[in-house]
Amino acid sequence: MLRKAFSLGFGLCLLSWAFTTQAREPIEAIPLSVDLDLDKARLGYQLYIDQRLSRDRTISCNSCHDLYNGGVDHRKVSIGVEGASGLVNAPTTWNAVFNFRQFWNGRAKNLREQAAGPVHNPVEMDMNAAEVRHRLSESAEYRAQFSKIYDAPPNLDDALDAIAEFEKGLITPNAPFDQYLRGETVLPRKALQGYRLFKTLGCITCHNGINVGGNSYQYLGVVIPVEQKKGTKADRYAVTGRRFDRNRYKVPTLRNVSRTEPYFHDASAATLDEAIRVMAYHNLGYLIEEEEVEKIKAFLHSLNGETPWILKTLFPGRDIQP
Ligand code: HEC
Ligand code: HEC
Repeated sequence: MLRKAFSLGFGLCLLSWAFTTQAREPIEAIPLSVDLDLDKARLGYQLYIDQRLSRDRTISCNSCHDLYNGGVDHRKVSIGVEGASGLVNAPTTWNAVFNFRQFWNGRAKNLREQAAGPVHNPVEMDMNAAEVRHRLSESAEYRAQFSKIYDAPPNLDDALDAIAEFEKGLITPNAPFDQYLRGETVLPRKALQGYRLFKTLGCITCHNGINVGGNSYQYLGVVIPVEQKKGTKADRYAVTGRRFDRNRYKVPTLRNVSRTEPYFHDASAATLDEAIRVMAYHNLGYLIEEEEVEKIKAFLHSLNGETPWILKTLFPGRDIQP
């Protein structure tokens, strides 16, 4: 009797341990779908790829955040209207909805507020509200859509709202790592070893949560300082003016990171190998071995998700390269 009770107790303990360890993983899976207004998102998609939103009609959001190519432009710094160069590397719009703030220095609190930035930025789209209203109103299709959705003629505010709604759907579910978290698959050995290293070395202290980043501000060079490139205005200091915010950035997401080179706010790392080494050395104080880099890389590859959910929904059959 006692033995039975004991083994039952032990069994229960084991079961609850199994559940809690699953729940205690510091990374969360991306949901398989999102609840959003599809009409708005469809309009948002059209605006996202519309070059009329830039002064010289050559640039759209998609020029710098290619929807079918990692949500980035793969340039060191972005190129805006009339070939103007930006100051920093473009982060991805994929899964940006999960970031606690937007931009490297977090100066926008959400996607809606963020989207106003590039439209007005003189080296990006260089536009104003009146010109946007004028240009969008020339299109009968836009007039009909704005009227139906917003009960208003085309205007910048509602355009930004629609773009933000579309971006909410740019989530990339079903990465092998998320399938592993849900208990649907086993990870290849190397990726699993990489995940363990990611945790034991301490990468996880800054890169965690649903976006494996995107939820805190941290330094570049916290253990071994990295000289800051002057004048990018991409750090928290540009927002707060506090000295301790120099060279401090929103931690970028590592979702789909193998698809978004080059790396860091100043694009100072051309490859993922290099970015991993810089992080291990400057942010944790380790000179890691080639084999360890390979393992971490295998783990990071397992964070590559499917075609963004909203694109799959609006355009079934058109998929990103795996
Ligand atoms: C000329 C290139 C360019 C264009 C056009 C552009 N962006 Fe960006 N985008 C950038 C750069 C560069 C940054 C980073 C700037 C910074 O952090 O200071 C950025 C940041 C962002 C972010 C923040 C992501 C994060 O992780 O913080 C989002 C979201 C975004 N852009 C969406 C858009 C949308 C929507 C449009 C169209 C309305 C747009 N962008 C147009 C280059 C561009
Ligand atoms: C102390 C916090 C911290 C730790 C620990 C940390 N990171 Fe980072 N990571 C950051 C910050 C901040 C950035 C952005 C730096 C910049 O852009 O200048 C970053 C950027 C990256 C990038 C580039 C992403 C991109 O899109 O540009 C990769 C890859 C990365 N980290 C991987 C790792 C790995 C692997 C480890 C462990 C070896 C690690 N990080 C440890 C804070 C951290």
